[in-house]
Amino acid sequence: MMYSAKVMEHFANPHNVGEMPDANGVGEVGNQKCGDIMKMYIKVENNVITDVKFLTFGCGAAIATSSMATDLIKGQPLSEALKLTNKAVVEALDGLPAVKLHCSVLAEQAIKAAIADYYRRQGIDPTPIVGEIEDCEACHCH
Ligand code: FES
Repeated sequence: MMYSAKVMEHFANPHNVGEMPDANGVGEVGNQKCGDIMKMYIKVENNVITDVKFLTFGCGAAIATSSMATDLIKGQPLSEALKLTNKAVVEALDGLPAVKLHCSVLAEQAIKAAIADYYRRQGIDPTPIVGEIEDCEACHCH
């Protein structure tokens, strides 16, 4: 299996790893295919994601995609972060082997779950804004 240099770089030295005790949005999603889980923490101020951290019990591809995804949403308004697709993250990493594409969905869904949690804490129904958080059993990525 061939990984791009960027994937190797983010896997070996992932960005934004850790917990965030003062996060105001936390999302956790599982990948039904492999059993891996991803936890995403965001700090939102004035609708902008000022800080983001993740923890995962996931494979190297999940770590690399989360590292890249968190880099891409840091400093972005919530509306922009919601537009981030796993496809864009994979492109930013110069691609992933086809059998590992499902791993990148974990990061995208964890970000959505964290944003949904943020809205819920504000007393706002997240579903019309964030949409459904896709269950990996139902998704078409593998
Ligand atoms: Fe589980 Fe990659 S094999 S996230």
